[in-house]
Amino acid sequence: MILGAGYDTRAHRLTLPSSLTVWEVDQPEVQAIKRAKLPKAQATSATSAQIHYVSIDFNHQCLSEHLLAAGFDTRKSTLFTLEGVSQYITKETFASTMEEIAALTQKTTATFIFSYVDALLKTDPVRCFGKGYPKAKRRADMVMGLAAKVGEPWISLYTEEALVELLAEHGFSVQENKTLEDLNAVYFSPVGRTLTENQIFKLEHFVAATSKKA
Ligand SMILES: C[S@@+](CC[C@H](N)C(=O)[O-])C[C@H]1O[C@@H](n2cnc3c(N)ncnc32)[C@H](O)[C@@H]1O
Repeated sequence: MILGAGYDTRAHRLTLPSSLTVWEVDQPEVQAIKRAKLPKAQATSATSAQIHYVSIDFNHQCLSEHLLAAGFDTRKSTLFTLEGVSQYITKETFASTMEEIAALTQKTTATFIFSYVDALLKTDPVRCFGKGYPKAKRRADMVMGLAAKVGEPWISLYTEEALVELLAEHGFSVQENKTLEDLNAVYFSPVGRTLTENQIFKLEHFVAATSKKA
């Protein structure tokens, strides 16, 4: 279940097991553009038939209502992702999305993978960067300024404590919470491109949480 899938094409690109159903949820206009621009090979790939597009605006529409109407099977274990989205939606919408996920997965197990922007970006931007990162405060302001300028302001930033509490309220516990600092050793070092501390920007966190039943 790729919530806020945007122009992510992994479901079309990857060779997925034929037993897997993929759901892509996003705003209708984004999905229309994406589908119109998909390269033919991806639009007609074997896995394309396994992808269901569901259009909603998280701020105003009910996720579970739309998914159930589209045939989502609540008996199947589901991996939910919400990547690069939480900063654009209100905290109320994020909490209600989590509530919807919990309701949809009552009978089964669920994994919820999402990213969030660290509240430090506003409260103490320098701490979002590795030691010696040049012009840290100015860069933090620039990132948020550019997002606002293109009409997509980052309205919701989080602390880890607030998220752990929110997840627990909906029956989820955090298994992992990583930033670029952690991912450096996993992805960059093995290919000889270790980032030095003064190149690391830890604004975004990547969280894996599971429902308590999982
Ligand atoms: C930065 S993109 C991330 C796309 C993708 N998940 C990725 O990581 O590449 C944010 C996505 O969230 C979607 N989004 C933002 N607000 C939304 C809302 N209120 N309802 C539904 N989708 C929303 C946007 O349409 C966009 O596709």
